[in-house]
Amino acid sequence: MSERQSETGTSDFSSRLTGFYDLDLEQRRALLTKQTGLDLSALFGPGGLTPNQADAMIENVVGVFGLPLGIAANFLVNEREVLVPMAIEEPSVVAGASHMAKLVRDSGGFQAKADPSHMIGQIQLLDLTDLAAAESALLAAESEILSTANAASARMVELGGGARGVELRRLENAPVSPMLVVHLIYDTVDSMGANTINTVLESVAPLTEAITGGRAHLRILSNLADRRLVRASCKIQPETLSFEQFAGPQVRDGIVEAWAFAAADPYRAATHNKGIMNGIDAVLIATGNDWRAVEAGAHAYASRSGRYAPLTRWWVDDKGWLGGELELPMAVGTVGGATRAHPAAKACLRLMQVETAQQLSEVVASVGLAQNLAALRALATEGIQRGHMGLHARQLAMAAGASGSQIERIARLMVQDGEVGLERAQELLDHLNRD
Ligand code: MEV
Repeated sequence: MSERQSETGTSDFSSRLTGFYDLDLEQRRALLTKQTGLDLSALFGPGGLTPNQADAMIENVVGVFGLPLGIAANFLVNEREVLVPMAIEEPSVVAGASHMAKLVRDSGGFQAKADPSHMIGQIQLLDLTDLAAAESALLAAESEILSTANAASARMVELGGGARGVELRRLENAPVSPMLVVHLIYDTVDSMGANTINTVLESVAPLTEAITGGRAHLRILSNLADRRLVRASCKIQPETLSFEQFAGPQVRDGIVEAWAFAAADPYRAATHNKGIMNGIDAVLIATGNDWRAVEAGAHAYASRSGRYAPLTRWWVDDKGWLGGELELPMAVGTVGGATRAHPAAKACLRLMQVETAQQLSEVVASVGLAQNLAALRALATEGIQRGHMGLHARQLAMAAGASGSQIERIARLMVQDGEVGLERAQELLDHLNRD
């Protein structure tokens, strides 16, 4: 039984948050607390972190920088209901993810599968006179290298992780001088693993020098974590894609055509992938993960064919349903780093009820796929500005002094009349206040 189920005594938890968007801040907090049965107060303060806590995390701290934290609803991932925390300053992202998760859940939800947490650590060996002889010597000593790595990381081995293999890459034509690169494949279990890998590499490097007679130069993990991929997929009935004047099959085909543009053109693929990362980064930030590492891995992976390509694929299957999938490296953790040191990140992980790094990766990838679907659906139909205008209108209504339900009413009226501006928001507010 999950923690939430045991806390609430129920197993009928749902990620549907009916009417959430239309509630005010306090009402949303109350509903979230009631629905989850969890103490989420760490999420409700400014920034989720005190200046003193921040001071212990990095250097030269003077304060804490806040970001909006929203909850994406409706996610069903591998038949599990998940509420997804997203920290992001850009409007439309949380609404887009929630809306697409709703469409996907109506067709069965997301399926996702993450690889084991196998990270790659690199040791750069220089000054080798015979690369082939060095390779043979290293391969012959693989078990000694693995046991040295494990001895340097006993705690991770106790947790079920540890060194899994040695692979070699010969870079004969590298600038400056030829080099041999040792890849140490290391299972970091539920941590992202950067610190463990780097510690292990520094311990193993002298052994690789002794084995080869070379000089170990850099010893650092690779962010192209392509042994730690995650895949998410979904299937959507075309009828559920219809809205306003747009028929389902037209939306479905428009999404596939939009994907084809990215598949054929790196200029479009960059923007396409940026949309995917809008969702992924927001969850990584909310859960205290290193989003720069995942960004680096995603873009390197997108270029693996020698040409920058989209990370997703969309097609029409033989039943006429829209199929979508996303695959990318996902080096994330549910333990270690800020995931546990940051009180709000810790509460976000609790909210998602993810125990393992693999489960977290599977949710994150599903959000990336949903986000891509939201962007392509909007671009292929009404364009993205309409949705953006709605949120922009809310911001203007707030700037004009509206509060609570007034914000939504004013924003709706402005968008409806096609007159979105601060002055108009003030006029409408005066009008409402007079009523
Ligand atoms: C904006 O942040 C993201 C989009 O540009 C993504 C896309 O074009 O696919 C809407």
